Amino acid sequence: MENFYITTPIYYPSGRFHIGTAYSTILADAIARYKRLQGYNVKFLTGLDEHGLKIQNKAKEKGMTPQQYVDDMAKQAKELWDKLNISEHDFIRTTDKKHEKTLLKVYEKMYENGDIYKGHYSGWYCVPCETFFTEKDLVLGKCPDCGREVSITEEECYFFNMKKYQDKIVEFYEKNPDFLEPLFRKEEIMNNFIKPGLEDLCISRTTFDWGIKLPNDSKHVMYVWLDALTNYLSALGYLTEDDNEFKTFWPANIQIIGKDIVRFHAIYWPIFLMSLGLEAPKKLYSHGFIVMKDGKMSKSKGNMIYPDTLAEKYGVDAVRYFLLKIMNYGTDSEFTPESFVERYNSDLCNDLGNLLNRTIAMINKYFDGKIKENKYSFTQFDNGLENIIETSIEEFKTNFDNLQISNSLSSLFNIISKANKYIDDTEPWVLAKSEENKDKLNCVMYHLVESLRIFAIYINPFMPDTSENILNQLGINEQYRTLESASFGKSENIKVIEKGIPLFERLDVNTSIDEIKEMMK
Ligand code: MSP
Repeated sequence: MENFYITTPIYYPSGRFHIGTAYSTILADAIARYKRLQGYNVKFLTGLDEHGLKIQNKAKEKGMTPQQYVDDMAKQAKELWDKLNISEHDFIRTTDKKHEKTLLKVYEKMYENGDIYKGHYSGWYCVPCETFFTEKDLVLGKCPDCGREVSITEEECYFFNMKKYQDKIVEFYEKNPDFLEPLFRKEEIMNNFIKPGLEDLCISRTTFDWGIKLPNDSKHVMYVWLDALTNYLSALGYLTEDDNEFKTFWPANIQIIGKDIVRFHAIYWPIFLMSLGLEAPKKLYSHGFIVMKDGKMSKSKGNMIYPDTLAEKYGVDAVRYFLLKIMNYGTDSEFTPESFVERYNSDLCNDLGNLLNRTIAMINKYFDGKIKENKYSFTQFDNGLENIIETSIEEFKTNFDNLQISNSLSSLFNIISKANKYIDDTEPWVLAKSEENKDKLNCVMYHLVESLRIFAIYINPFMPDTSENILNQLGINEQYRTLESASFGKSENIKVIEKGIPLFERLDVNTSIDEIKEMMK
């Protein structure tokens, strides 16, 4: 069995997890699930980035120790992933002993290679962002990331010798032009950061102590990004006695990140790996941001939306579908209550839900719930639908493999809209009027069942419950729920449920829009 390793970023537990952070995990989950369907041995990793001044301050605010605070947040994160139906995964925390073990060894190895040296850092420092900036980085004298005051700070620190890897990283991108997607992000990284020349990176801090101490100098704690990036290796037991998973799964097949953390993953990460003599991940995919009508989500704007609140009201699958559908390849997409309700009603309720309901109702009405397999075409529209299924699936695969996730969903939903049209074209209610059209009518029903069955198999990674629900209502045997069986004409002995259960209840547009607005805080 081939192995497949996929990771999400590890999230800062600095507050309740909003829809943006959930998107990374849902996207990774859809990929992990699809790969499992394809028969891969999948390792799916997510987790929390628990160290640093921000977390230390947050805990203080709450009157907790940092450890108590992160323990509480880890519980919340795990509960959230359960609620969102995130499939089997490993959950790494940077406070795990296992992580610390690997991190210390990683540091020692880099140190022994001569890649780390002690020096002084002086620059404009933004406390909330824990980042030093040069004069030219500042925007109107303030932090370019958060817009807050910065102050000149000088600190003794350990540096990682990035400059040593300048040529190697350029060469790496020349040899691996597809490493970072989308391509325009690679251009940005190349032009803005790599080509102007890398600066050595300060990898320790003395201004706070909520972190892992350097093994050779306990005044210093590890800088969050070296600490955090190492999670992808520590979860596999790298440089520990139990490194089987490392041997099995490294290099990662795909690492999912948001556009704001590309620089760390596209420059520092491959360089750290070079220093350790390890291969880079095969692919880094950077998605855009979910934004609101008034820009970025933020507590101060009161426009935050939480995936669990939304899922409690409208169902997990609707939330999963919506996020995966609205997010375009690599760019920002807007969340609006209006678009949520519109997609829910049109795609899920009208197109998909109605097709299933009509199909089940007709099979019950005309055939007492049972139809024969029927691979032959009886109407002039059969071949057309069979072809659509085939080409849509091919399109789906190409889109999915190219990380065009939203388009891959369109490919699948094309089957649904064409199957709905097929009903209008074949007019089963007319066929039902005469006994001599019985075979034709059976054939039409079989085509509808097959369209829904194949759709349900492929939609599983996105909407796992809905997929199962469709297959159950259609009475599809286990053997016809696999990817191998997902082509027209495979299923047989169909006995549908006696009374169909709606997949999605139609939403009242205005009431629901108001409800969602109410949820936004
Ligand atoms: N802890 C670091 C990552 C370390 S990985 C070695 C971090 N954490 S974060 O919690 O701030 O962000 C985690 C992920 O959520 C990032 O990929 C970020 O891009 C993503 N998102 C945060 N807000 C988002 C949106 N509004 N929309 C989509 N993704 C967003 O950075």
